Amino acid sequence: MDDQIIDNQSISPILVGLMGSGKSSIGRRLAGNLKLPLIDLDDYIVEQAGRSIPEIFEQDGEAAFRQMETEALRQIVGSHSVIATGGGVVMSETNMHILKQHPPVIWLKASPEFLTGRIEGDSNRPLIAVGDTLKKLQELAAIRYPLYEQCADFILPRGDMKKTEALQAILDFIYAFRK
Ligand code: S3P
Repeated sequence: MDDQIIDNQSISPILVGLMGSGKSSIGRRLAGNLKLPLIDLDDYIVEQAGRSIPEIFEQDGEAAFRQMETEALRQIVGSHSVIATGGGVVMSETNMHILKQHPPVIWLKASPEFLTGRIEGDSNRPLIAVGDTLKKLQELAAIRYPLYEQCADFILPRGDMKKTEALQAILDFIYAFRK
């Protein structure tokens, strides 16, 4: 991994995928490896709003959160960094347009079954706060998989792969993408 020389000057990978697919944690490792800052879109929104995501959803509703998300994406895209997005970023046409204009977009593809155990009971994720987490993730996957696929330059299948292997696969892709 260390002997791969990646000119990071013009690379700003964007990670997409369902909740719990590892965008923030893999993003952190990727950013460390590329010597770039990591910008987490959710953290950015929380900082700007001065409220948590559950508070924004509860007080202003999901539509308002989506507007904040688009505004935040507009502000940070193109900055020299690794960007970890929220799972619903692909739900807006504007966001899809922005993502397609800023490759490489990397989809951390994970099944609802894989994700359920990772996020069940997480009180910071309002979309799974009530009801059956697996069912909700299946519904989201049905709508979002085609959208992730549309904007992705690289698809990383999450599952059995360890985080180090996942990171290496992304770095190999980025290395080839840069050439
Ligand atoms: C959401 C995913 C969350 C966060 C918000 C909505 C979604 O981010 O943006 O709760 O619509 O899937 P993570 O994917 O980082 O959990």
